[in-house]
Amino acid sequence: MATVLPLPRSVAGSGPAGRIVLAVGAWATAAVLACRGTGGGAPATAETAAPAPAADDAASEPGATVEAAAHATDSGLADATGPSPDPQEARWTALRDRMVETQLLARDIADPDVLRAMRSVPRHLMVPEEVREHSYDDGPLPIGWDQTISQPYIVAIMTQLAEVAPGERVLEIGTGSGYQAAVLAELGAAVYTIEIVGALAERAQRDLEALGYGGRVQFRTGDGYRGWPEHAPFDAVLVTAAPPEIPQPLLDQLAPGGRLVAPVGDDLQVLVVVERDAGGTLSRREIAPVQFVPMTGEAQHPSPAP
Ligand SMILES: C[S@@+](CC[C@H](N)C(=O)[O-])C[C@H]1O[C@@H](n2cnc3c(N)ncnc32)[C@H](O)[C@@H]1O
Repeated sequence: MATVLPLPRSVAGSGPAGRIVLAVGAWATAAVLACRGTGGGAPATAETAAPAPAADDAASEPGATVEAAAHATDSGLADATGPSPDPQEARWTALRDRMVETQLLARDIADPDVLRAMRSVPRHLMVPEEVREHSYDDGPLPIGWDQTISQPYIVAIMTQLAEVAPGERVLEIGTGSGYQAAVLAELGAAVYTIEIVGALAERAQRDLEALGYGGRVQFRTGDGYRGWPEHAPFDAVLVTAAPPEIPQPLLDQLAPGGRLVAPVGDDLQVLVVVERDAGGTLSRREIAPVQFVPMTGEAQHPSPAP
């Protein structure tokens, strides 16, 4: 179940001059910084007063989301670009704009590129039909196989902290729905994403390709603990499931000047940013308490490097 966490009133997050400064105090307005799901419905937050959608479980593993949406609403992306805008698509766009205004701008998301990406990616086409109505709510949603698509705010803050520039190479551990990967692709990054649940990986690849992001995202099914050395080094690494400690191979694959953003911990987790400076030295800062699904696989019982 997603959990409301106490949040610090000030956050010392910053990037290179002129890029990102997290507003002091803004975090206090964030109701939930959570990405953990147990197969339950949408979390109840101040902005999400609607009843939770039906729980999903292994018996109701959702199918392809983009195709399902196109059939359910008769409004695929192609329709939205036609001469007469589909009213259903216009409604989703309005909900997305409201999400950006009330959940991101009202907090501390200030990077214009991140805001543009969050306005662009059709999140409702990347979630199972049973929870589609809640796509732009202020919380994580179940996507099947006991996993979640992260709260929009957490996707935005992780993306902002990663400071991704066009053309940069970004490694994501935990493809999930593919939504975070799509946001990174919208920023012009070359995205390498790894997912340990085969069915999720397949569905995300299918959906991202259907949405036109396929050319900018490379997919791999497996344990992301050891990263993707064949494509290293990476300018940014985003870990979207929580390991007890940051896997050393992911730190090793961070380029000079690179940023790694990850939730770290077991029951008590904190969002961490690790930066490697031009000389290779790593520095680490803690951003805020968070709650993510655990990183499974080798992270739970690391073995020495081969
Ligand atoms: C919070 S969800 C990620 C949300 C995703 N980024 C999105 O945009 O929908 C965490 C994901 O990490 C995956 N995961 C957990 N442990 C992993 C591992 N060792 N390697 C790769 N993926 C892992 C889970 O299966 C799950 O899909």
